[in-house]
Amino acid sequence: MYKKFLYLSAMVPLALALSLNAAADEKAQQLMSGNGCVACHATDSQLVGPSYTAISEHYEESEDNIAFLVDKIRAGGAGSFGQVPMPPHGHVSEEDARVIVEWIFTL
Ligand code: HEC
Repeated sequence: MYKKFLYLSAMVPLALALSLNAAADEKAQQLMSGNGCVACHATDSQLVGPSYTAISEHYEESEDNIAFLVDKIRAGGAGSFGQVPMPPHGHVSEEDARVIVEWIFTL
């Protein structure tokens, strides 16, 4: 009985963490398809732009790098992965861009 209680109390936060994670993941996927990122980026393969996995490996996860990538998504530009520029996506809010960047760092 006691053991079962311990087991259950360990499972609840785990299940909650997993479902929060799944919700964040789904939100990021929706933002990336809704904003046309999918035309140039895929998780594991290089398209016009680098794969999200390559981006995740290129940077340390830090507040500075998150802020840099949020700005870069919104302003566009070249130079990090070569000379092909990313067009600006100023219509993507800072908040939404951050959801995407945080998802990239889970890869
Ligand atoms: C027309 C093609 C294109 C579209 C659409 C596009 N990207 Fe990119 N993206 C690129 C290219 C090319 C680069 C490489 C830029 C560089 O080398 O600095 C890039 C780089 C990035 C980077 C890394 C930036 C850096 O400096 O390391 C992130 C993050 C990113 N894109 C996210 C997104 C997101 C999110 C969207 C959708 C809102 C998006 N991209 C839409 C082409 C695109």
